[in-house]
Amino acid sequence: MRLFYHLAIDLGTTYSVVWLLSTDGYSQEPTFVALKRDSHLPLAIGQEAKQMHGLVPTHIEVIQPLRGGVISDFEVCSVFLQRLIKKTLGRRRGIVRNVLFCLPWGATDVEVRAYRKQLELYPFSRIYLIREPLAAALGADISIENPNGNILVDLGGGTTEITTLSLNGVVQCTSLKVGGNNMDQAIQQAIEMKNFFCIGPTTAEKIKIKHGSIAPVIEDYLFEIKGFHRFYHLPRKIELNTVDIRAALEASAQKVLRGINSAFETLTPELAADVSTNGVTLAGGGAYLKGWTDRISQRFDLPVRIPAEPHLCVIRGMKKILTRLKEYRFLLEE
Ligand SMILES: Nc1ncnc2c1ncn2[C@@H]1O[C@H](COP(=O)(O)OP(=O)(O)OP(=O)(O)O)[C@@H](O)[C@H]1O
Ligand SMILES: [Mg+2]
Repeated sequence: MRLFYHLAIDLGTTYSVVWLLSTDGYSQEPTFVALKRDSHLPLAIGQEAKQMHGLVPTHIEVIQPLRGGVISDFEVCSVFLQRLIKKTLGRRRGIVRNVLFCLPWGATDVEVRAYRKQLELYPFSRIYLIREPLAAALGADISIENPNGNILVDLGGGTTEITTLSLNGVVQCTSLKVGGNNMDQAIQQAIEMKNFFCIGPTTAEKIKIKHGSIAPVIEDYLFEIKGFHRFYHLPRKIELNTVDIRAALEASAQKVLRGINSAFETLTPELAADVSTNGVTLAGGGAYLKGWTDRISQRFDLPVRIPAEPHLCVIRGMKKILTRLKEYRFLLEE
């Protein structure tokens, strides 16, 4: 039995990941909370709550406490964090000594104070904060300590962050208000407009993950989905073509490509020379979407690198920091 624990928490808009020092695995849960509408009593969090989304009776509501990468509902977020930490610690007894928590690059002083307040509700001995792109870069094995420019694109659920890094620091970071959630909504809207057919956000996400692409990297095919037909006013099944899903995702893909283009325009000639060799590194769950490598390399004629398990880049970077705290302390905010 251990007496002290160290935790790393990556609180994401759609998925949150926790790592407990000394264990190998990560626990990942969708950032969802199901509450009783009148008493606000929490009923479930994570996967269990996400599964209820769109299926609950009127006395239950399912809430996502983060929007666009930042906390939008503090009370509910607190419930989520509390339960997530409890779930991670399980039956272990002891003190959580160090907690490393990541913040979006653009979090303002007010937001940082709010995050800190949120964490001070727990009996942690020490709270460390790290900016998300730095953690993601470490997790993507970018050697940030070198005088060598790198561009990292973190394709998250709520936002896409495009960061230029060099010499242990962020040269520039742009956060685009476009992410996996917008893509899910675009799929929902396209199906509704073209087929008079309604699907929920969970189904839209499943379609994106299974059948979505932003370049014709595989042969197109037809697949079946279930939902509500607005013309017949009845539950129905329909067939869709993967071409239509690609068309629905195009506007979001264009926004990201334009964002990358803007990041290139701000590079100094030295950084541009480095980036021409290092290319673009993708992180975040959105990096799994089929076609990013083709689109980015075709448009910019640069190499594209997607590390293994890109959705875990941030937590992997945080794990590196917690296990070598002295070495990386200078990157942290206390
Ligand atoms: N195989 C896949 N194909 C396409 N998209 C995927 C795949 N797997 C996950 N995603 C998408 O990745 C997004 C989640 O990524 P990630 O966990 O990095 O985001 P987050 O940290 O919750 O969000 P943010 O960083 O914006 O706060 C979701 O929109 C999810 O649908
Ligand atoms: Mg994230």
